[in-house]
This record gives sequence, C-alpha cells and structure tokens, in this order.
Amino acid sequence: MTKLDVVLGLQWGDEGKGKIVDFLAERYPVVARFQGGPNAGHSIQAGKTAFVLHSVPSGVFREGSINIIGNGVVLDPTIFRSECEAIEALGVPVRERVKIARRAHLIVPTHKLLDAADEAALGKAKIGSTLKGIGPAYSDKTGRNGLRVGDLTGADFREKYDTLKRKHLSRLAQYDFTYPFDLDEAEARWMEDAQYLKTFDIVDAEYETNALLDAGKTILAEGAQGSMLDVDFGSYPFVTSSSTACAGACTGLGVAPGRIGRVYGVFKAYCTRVGSGPFPTELGDETGERLRQRGHEFGATTGRPRRTGWLDLPALKFAVMISGVTDLIMMKADVLDGFDTVKVCCQYRVDGVRTDRVPYDVYAEVEPVYKEFPGWKGDLSACRSEAELPAEFKAYIDYVEREIGVPIRILSLGPDRSQTVIRK
Ligand code: IMO
Ligand code: MG
Repeated sequence: MTKLDVVLGLQWGDEGKGKIVDFLAERYPVVARFQGGPNAGHSIQAGKTAFVLHSVPSGVFREGSINIIGNGVVLDPTIFRSECEAIEALGVPVRERVKIARRAHLIVPTHKLLDAADEAALGKAKIGSTLKGIGPAYSDKTGRNGLRVGDLTGADFREKYDTLKRKHLSRLAQYDFTYPFDLDEAEARWMEDAQYLKTFDIVDAEYETNALLDAGKTILAEGAQGSMLDVDFGSYPFVTSSSTACAGACTGLGVAPGRIGRVYGVFKAYCTRVGSGPFPTELGDETGERLRQRGHEFGATTGRPRRTGWLDLPALKFAVMISGVTDLIMMKADVLDGFDTVKVCCQYRVDGVRTDRVPYDVYAEVEPVYKEFPGWKGDLSACRSEAELPAEFKAYIDYVEREIGVPIRILSLGPDRSQTVIRK
C-alpha cells in the first residue's frame, strides 16, 4: 500500500521544512499542506532566486508536481494571489500544479483585525502572533462560523460573508482599539482575489489524496510551524491554532492513520523561536547574537529577529514521541562552525528538580542542564559526504541520535539542494 509520508518541524517553526520538502519532492509527485496558513514562511532556493512560500506547498518548483492545499489549511485569497503571481513570474505554471480543498477555511480581512485587537488587549502577555488572522480563522472554524473555499461558488456567498463580517465588527466594537487599516479597501481587494482563487482547481481533496495513494503515487505532507507550537502539545497559550503534529496530517487531508508511512522530523542544530513564550535554552548574550547573524535568523514572514539558543533535547524527544518520528533531519549545523564549544541541553531542572519532561506550566522556572562538546574546525557547508565530516561534529551528532533513539538520516549544511548529506 502506498503511504503518505510527513515532514514536520520539531521545534518552534523555521526549522527549514521548505528546503527539505523541495529536496525530497524529487521522490514525491504530490506535496500537500495540511495545516496552518500564511503564518508559515518556507524558504526555498528556486534556481538562483530565494523564494518564500506562505500557502503554496513547497513542491511547486518541481516539474509535473501536484501540490494540494488541504482542508486543514486556512487560506487568505489576497496572500495566495500575490504568492501565485510571483511564482508565475518565475515561469512556473502554478495553476497547473496547485489544487485547493473545497473544505479549507478562508481568512477574511476582519480576521486580521481581530488578531491585532486580541494581541493589543493582551498587552505584555501577547502571543506574538504573525497577525495574519490565523487564530480568529481557526476559532471560527471550530466555532462553526467559518467560511470555506467551497462557499465561494455558492449563490449566497456574499450573504454568508456579510453575516460573518457583522459578527466580527460587533466583537471589535467591544475593544478599545484602533488600527491603521482600511477595511473597505482590503475587502474590495479580497473579493477580487477570491475570484482569482476560484479559477484554480477546487477539489474534494480527501478523495483526491486517497485516489492518488490508491494509484500508487507517493504523497509528501508538508507541515507548517513546529511541534512546540501545536495547539494541544505546545507551550499553550503561546502556540499557533492548529495541530502541527503528525496526527494533523490525517485530519488535515482526510487520510487514515494507517496510511501514514515515514515521518521526517526536521530540527536545527540549535533552537530559535519568534514570538513570546517559554524558551529554556535561550541565549540573550553574544553567543545568541552570533547564532542569529550566522544563521540569518530573521523571520521569513514578519522580518522579526528570532530568539536563539542551544539545542533542547527534552523538547525534541517530546516532539518525536508525539509524532512518531521515524527519520531525523538536522539543519544548519554549519552555523555552529568555528564555535569553541557547542552545548546541548540534555535535561531540565524545574524548581530545583531534574527532569526529562517538558513542564505543563509555561511560567515555571526551567533551567537547562547542559552537556558540552568541543567545536569543530573547517567548513561544514563544503562537505558533500559523511566521510568528509570532522570527527568532533560526528561525536556531537552521534550523541544526539543516541539520546533521541531515532537515526539522523539527512544533514543539511547550507541553503542549496546540493548542500545536503544523506547518511547510511
Ligand atoms: P513556519 O511554517 C515560526 C508563531 C508566531 C507566534 C505563534 C502564533 O515558517 O515554521 P500565529 O500567527 O500562528 O497566530 O502566531 O506562532 N509562528 C511561527 N513561528 N515559524 C512559523 O511558521 C510560525 N507560524 C507561527 O511567531 O509566536
Ligand atoms: Mg518560517
């Protein structure tokens, strides 16, 4: 039976899922997004151009690929359109390659206003949302108020839209909030962009994915965000509003759990986080700044500087457990080139007690317990095979692999497809 393989971020997002999906897409004629929305920023090297995808799956640059936007995704027609037009400008026939689930929910302009108003009301306790309307759109979905892509073709679409907008405006009226945003203008543009969206292939994606699998076509499901931002298992409430773990691929595409095959877990050799919330290994010092500069750790969606810190094994093991990760993919170890020592957090100390568990309480004082490794000399980004890797680096990855108990199959040592080492 042909299976659905899944690529997931195991940290707080920005692990490099875009590059890996693009790299693996050679083996997968079909790539599907199953959750999240334009809060994602998946960076890909498309020939000589660096490209950031927000809602379109990262297989789109492969010739002949099918890219499905699943029912679990929330889609903003305006962002979708500008993304598609930019892809088309590179000569990629985006319309031939992208299909959209009828059941996917729509982000409307007032979702963005609500996102901003919710954040403003939280003040210092804000989530640090990307302000793309993600939380409000998923709230409407589970609150059974949402608008779906399939609604766009209904005769009563405008009526449904206006009803939802009225609900949003009455909620907004309860806030003491003004936002420099021209709603009429955004709405007029959104309506045009929704017409553009309608010209794409809108499908019953659950039938589509199952039929493709039945026909022997392998599918790669592309996760967005990361395990530690999962609405259930992340550092709630400092999370996104969707299921970023493997199970999200089942509900977000209509594929049964028994059809899941490999689960690729993508993680950076260090950690980053954008937005608020706990980050036990965060470095507020020069080392943290060095990671940020060397790793170009600035948000692909919002441009915000990312918080940086050492690799966190308790969090990584938690993510591997939740999703049943079968293959690990380590990204950006080349950023650690030239460090005298490299640290890995192997346990936490919570209220003075050592633990392997991720605490429930996001305000708990968590102190990382570190293991130190000697750094390596040379340029990892020039390595093209396992044999070329420095011994110190091998010792470091052997330790990580042993601790997690899952093999690291791929090492990505630079943004280019060629800077990727596959291990035995
Ligand atoms: P990719 O797919 C990193 C973070 C935001 C914020 C929290 C909630 O590129 O890895 P939201 O807009 O979802 O309501 O914000 O989640 N966040 C991400 N951080 N990478 C992402 O996506 C993210 N998507 C959301 O910064 O802390
Ligand atoms: Mg990102």
